[in-house]
Amino acid sequence: IGDQLALTPPMGWNSWNCWGIIVSADKVKSSAQALIDKGLIDYGWSYINIDDGWEAPERNVDGTIATNEKFGNMKELGDWLHSNGLKFGIYSSPGPRTCGGYLGSYQHEKQDADSYASWGIDYLKYDWCSYDGIVGKDTTTAAYIKPYTIMSEALRAQPRDIVYSLCQYGMKDVWKWGPQVNGQSWRTTEDIEDTWQSLYSIGFHQDRLFSYAGPGHWNDPDMMIVGQVGWGENLHPSRLTPDEQYTHVTLWSLLSAPLLIGCDLSKLDNFTLQLLTNSEVIAVNQDLLGKQAQRVFNTDSTQVWMKELESGEKAIGIFNMSTKYRTVKVTWDSLGLTAPQQVRNIWRQQNVTANKLFYTAELPPHGVAFIKVVAKK
Ligand code: DGJ
Repeated sequence: IGDQLALTPPMGWNSWNCWGIIVSADKVKSSAQALIDKGLIDYGWSYINIDDGWEAPERNVDGTIATNEKFGNMKELGDWLHSNGLKFGIYSSPGPRTCGGYLGSYQHEKQDADSYASWGIDYLKYDWCSYDGIVGKDTTTAAYIKPYTIMSEALRAQPRDIVYSLCQYGMKDVWKWGPQVNGQSWRTTEDIEDTWQSLYSIGFHQDRLFSYAGPGHWNDPDMMIVGQVGWGENLHPSRLTPDEQYTHVTLWSLLSAPLLIGCDLSKLDNFTLQLLTNSEVIAVNQDLLGKQAQRVFNTDSTQVWMKELESGEKAIGIFNMSTKYRTVKVTWDSLGLTAPQQVRNIWRQQNVTANKLFYTAELPPHGVAFIKVVAKK
């Protein structure tokens, strides 16, 4: 697998959840600059991905894609990002139009991939959108795979590596054929929002996809809704409580999810910065074994997810699904682990003393205890 892309989940920023279609080259540049200035770049955050809203209303006469007035020269932007140690991502749709009504790549796939390569693109998010109109009544899986194969071939014909991120909301069990079209990740659901309900229905329902994640091919439960979000209107602090945000980042780390920050980085507050720059939390996400966590305990009030790490340790998230403060006792035995275990609190980056037979977690509403354990010799 040495020549594969995305051997660990991609990490970076995407414009959609803050700027929506009012994205511009200036906003992208200032986000990239903030990512550098705030030190996120030192933690592995590296992709700067432009989402929908960069394309011109019509193609050039030769059929090539052009940028709209908010974006100037893409090659210049790419060169600037690369010279700052960052990577450059872009967005398109296999349909004639993107979800925002901009130009898609339909019947111009090779031309578009050529343009991307000439601009220095490192990552493409390919969003189903108006392909509904092309696929029509053909509901076969083959019909849904076809447009992703066409762009895959166009990308692979380029003289540079371009990570291919499939965005079709989990239709036709994309996790089963994503690797076949050389996709490095695939969205598993519809769009996430900054509410507990959305986080719950997306994040806590990924367990059945466990076996489809691995180095070079990741389940993508969508971007992280922390910090200032707004989808292009009324930027506001994420409506998730701080504890729900710990839960969000912990779960995405356990799930080996691509980590794409969806907020306005120029308005990054200290809390969000700390959430995104905890090296031990990121290390769980980036673990080289590339396993996704499995849910090992599940009741209405508590879920426990466990991820196997390359070191032989296990990362464990004990989640409080209720809106009450609770003390939860988890025995090593119930997790299939031998007692006693040595325990480290991952967020605090501290070893802790635990009972021989169990771990006691003090959990705030919708909060989490994130620990790493290994059998004591
Ligand atoms: C739908 C996708 O799921 C979103 O992430 C975003 O890319 C929008 N389309 C853009 O129109």
